[in-house]
Amino acid sequence: MADRKATLTLDGKEFDLPVLSPNIGPDVLDIRKLYGQADVFTYDPGFTSTASCESAITFIDGDAGELLYRGYPIEQLAEKSTHLETCYLLMNGELPTAAQLNDFTNRVTRHTMVHEQMHQFFRGFRRDAHPMATMVGVVGAMSAFYHDSLDINDEWHREVASIRMIAKLPTIAAMAYKYSVGQPFVYPKNSLSYAGNFLNMCFAVPAEDYVVNPILEKAMDRIMMLHADHEQNASTSTVRLAGSSGANPFACIAAGIACLWGPAHGGANQACLEMLREIGTVDRIPEFIARAKDKNDPFRLMGFGHRVYKNFDPRAKVMKESADEVLGLLGIENNETLKVAKELERIALEDEYFVSKKLYPNVDFYSGIILEAMGFPTSMFTPIFAISRTIGWISQWKEMISDPTGKIGRPRQLYVGPLKRDYLDLRAR
Ligand code: CMC
Repeated sequence: MADRKATLTLDGKEFDLPVLSPNIGPDVLDIRKLYGQADVFTYDPGFTSTASCESAITFIDGDAGELLYRGYPIEQLAEKSTHLETCYLLMNGELPTAAQLNDFTNRVTRHTMVHEQMHQFFRGFRRDAHPMATMVGVVGAMSAFYHDSLDINDEWHREVASIRMIAKLPTIAAMAYKYSVGQPFVYPKNSLSYAGNFLNMCFAVPAEDYVVNPILEKAMDRIMMLHADHEQNASTSTVRLAGSSGANPFACIAAGIACLWGPAHGGANQACLEMLREIGTVDRIPEFIARAKDKNDPFRLMGFGHRVYKNFDPRAKVMKESADEVLGLLGIENNETLKVAKELERIALEDEYFVSKKLYPNVDFYSGIILEAMGFPTSMFTPIFAISRTIGWISQWKEMISDPTGKIGRPRQLYVGPLKRDYLDLRAR
């Protein structure tokens, strides 16, 4: 793979660094032997120039604004595929045949119920807990309920744990929601689709029938698919790092959920809608744009900017279409929040600050508007991201476990603390 090399000159000595070429994307300098040979580390907090692993799952061309799952453009999948088919693709590498899809869908559908004792577990949480807090706890606790799928060295265990998480995360998120609003849990219904079942578990009540609207079902399925994987983002890297120690799959995914919660990552969809509501009316946009540009103000335009995309986030384009479709269906296309969002996008895309920094709307800019229109409170936005990203975390975790060259993730540091010193007795301090 590596005939080319780069040469590092340090204190008059030369060190060769092999250059690895991916199938697409920038070349990579292989520094694995650098410390052993040259006694230096590299320094890259935030991993802006570091590839942490080899992966064949997802590719992003940030300059072109392109996202491929196993080679397939996200726009094609959003138009022609479903979230469950995309789950199969991400996990197995190829699109399923009809029989494979049928079997996969059956297996997921038949694992959607959670252990009945988990219901009691939920009741230990305060009703006003954020559903993400509940999810971190409950998903972590799955390892206390499903002992028969914890052996990471057993391929069958890995498979069963994966199916369980794809199937049960929507149930757990819906239960967290129902618990927070004081309504009874709604059991999964096998006759419904993956997205339809989730909507039903969130919005059905025993007192009356709930009919899943096919346009909302399709929009929910799309939201799930668009968030399904995004190469080595913060939560996925967290899952890989946790998994590199040999931790069980449920613990790894719980770690990913905890990381996703942050407002710079998955929590941005909630933060974005809250920001749009705070702006309130189109005439207040300039004030917020000015704040976003002010170095002394920590405010950022939520739903804008991305570490990798320096062009339109392709997911944001699809999401905008869905927003128009869903709000149109519900007859609320003149919704003030949507108006603020569209105008904010227009102004920011023409503003020198945003243009020069290549800050474009990301996937979270429009997703909150759709979810709110469906009836979800903002606190459920990030749990829905977590349901959707579960397949990405699982696929990346499985890829890592199957890599025979895998090692525990253990970064080094640039130490800036005190030098060695002697302990001072309390009276002498
Ligand atoms: N509003 C105003 N200025 C911004 C923004 C923003 N949303 N994003 C970046 N900048 C500025 C930033 O101040 C910096 O300016 P300067 O070079 O003068 O210091 C420059 O752009 C580069 O920003 P950065 O923070 O160094 O870039 P990053 O790659 O570390 O951060 C980000 C990426 C997504 C965390 C950041 O753009 C951000 O905080 N965006 C808002 C939160 C958000 O929408 N997150 C969702 C990301 S997509 C979903 C997901 O993957 O989870």
